Amino acid sequence: MGRLEEKVAIVTGAGSGVGREHALLLASEGAKIIVNDLGDSADDTTAQIISEGGEALSVKANVAEWSTGDTLVDAAVSTFGDLHILINNAGILRDAMSFSMNEAQFDEVIAVHLKGHFVCARAAGEYWRAQAKSGDETQRRIIHTSSESGLFGGPAQANYASAKGGILTLSITLGRELTKYGVTTNVVAPRARTALTDYIQSMAAPENPDEFDVYDPANVSPFVVWLCTDEAQGINGQAFIVGGSGIWWMRNWSHQGSVKLDGEKFTLEVIDANRDALFGDGDTSLPKFEAPPFS
Ligand SMILES: NC(=O)c1ccc[n+]([C@@H]2O[C@H](COP(=O)([O-])OP(=O)(O)OC[C@H]3O[C@@H](n4cnc5c(N)ncnc54)[C@H](O)[C@@H]3O)[C@@H](O)[C@H]2O)c1
Repeated sequence: MGRLEEKVAIVTGAGSGVGREHALLLASEGAKIIVNDLGDSADDTTAQIISEGGEALSVKANVAEWSTGDTLVDAAVSTFGDLHILINNAGILRDAMSFSMNEAQFDEVIAVHLKGHFVCARAAGEYWRAQAKSGDETQRRIIHTSSESGLFGGPAQANYASAKGGILTLSITLGRELTKYGVTTNVVAPRARTALTDYIQSMAAPENPDEFDVYDPANVSPFVVWLCTDEAQGINGQAFIVGGSGIWWMRNWSHQGSVKLDGEKFTLEVIDANRDALFGDGDTSLPKFEAPPFS
């Protein structure tokens, strides 16, 4: 008996990489899966789930299109009777330094990641709100996919880092809006060897097949699937880096210092005079890219 029997999940970008592993593990825990991707890779994942005794349906659609959210939610409800879990995962890269980036590179990445996450969450939220208002108290889950680039600001990824940073805030906003309808919303930033990262030599598979394959995308899925279970109830609006044998719980944008006048407007001179009060001995240089160590 799996932990997610009778649950229905949508996984976007589930034709390959970490999305595929999420879909396979969710299915092995008993969930019925709407496998979304752009093309035939969705059918491959669906076929594997079915061959292993699970239930799945491919829905080939572009998450950057507004109608895809409703298409996926409608497919879940009409095929499997409900929707409990949304894994927003589909993604692309169009890397370039900001000063060399063109409009298409910027727009495509924002559309697939930030809009793509919103489009699916919006449709799921609309459905879940209606269910809650009709008296259904079922717990629901959204897991979004960010990146260390979104957490720390990756160079040559102004498009991607902005989208992934937006997803971190989107998750918190959705949490504030949807908690009362039984929905939790959390974010993972994976570390995995996939089509997006296979150019990174340090993520290569170990030559010795008996050695632990740190960057196997399947290493990311257990925590993602755990976040979907009842055991993760109460975890909401949080972000995690997940990969290899590690899970790092992340938090950012905390209050560092302040100046408050007594009902007066600031002038540049008053700001000069309060500079030390605001910053004290704090470090005002460009924040470091403080990713947890890789090994
Ligand atoms: N691999 C990593 O180390 C890593 C690190 C940080 C973040 N991520 C994020 O993890 C997610 C999964 O990426 P991955 O590494 O598995 O790469 P991947 O390329 O293997 O998988 C991404 C999948 O999304 C699909 N996709 C792309 N655009 C789509 C669209 N418009 N609609 C529907 N599907 C679409 C692709 O066809 C592909 O199957 C992405 O959001 C990525 O940004 C991955």
